[in-house]
Amino acid sequence: MRLITLFVLFINILLADEASYNRGEMLFFAKSCSSCHGPSAEGSTSYPRLANKKSAYLEKKLKDFRAGKAQSVSQQMMAQFVEELSDKNINDLVYFLSHHKGEKIEDMNDAYLGGVGS
Ligand code: HEC
Repeated sequence: MRLITLFVLFINILLADEASYNRGEMLFFAKSCSSCHGPSAEGSTSYPRLANKKSAYLEKKLKDFRAGKAQSVSQQMMAQFVEELSDKNINDLVYFLSHHKGEKIEDMNDAYLGGVGS
């Protein structure tokens, strides 16, 4: 009996993580993060890579930006994209980014359009 309880708990944790990843992924595109940081959060010369950075680091950065702690013009610009995010949204974005599986935009289209994407 105790083993079954543990098993159910374990599955619940897995499902919660999966939901967090999917919500974070959705937010990453819906909140325009992808337009600067790239569709695979890979970054570019002007924008930092976010994929698979440490979750504690990403969370601190986002919460600092949200609190208006900016030390440069580019950080001020970043802040306006996160000022409306709830703690849950930040958690989901951080989970998605720190566990990024490296999908590309083509894969996203396939996933969302049922294989009819370009
Ligand atoms: C208009 C372009 C733009 C958009 C849109 C944008 N960012 Fe950024 N982001 C930047 C720039 C530029 C920086 C680097 C700021 C600096 O100089 O430290 C940055 C930095 C960050 C950092 C810190 C990374 C590091 O390694 O220091 C995180 C985390 C981040 N962005 C997450 C997001 C998320 C999540 C979103 C969407 C809600 C988003 N960004 C939307 C331009 C953008």
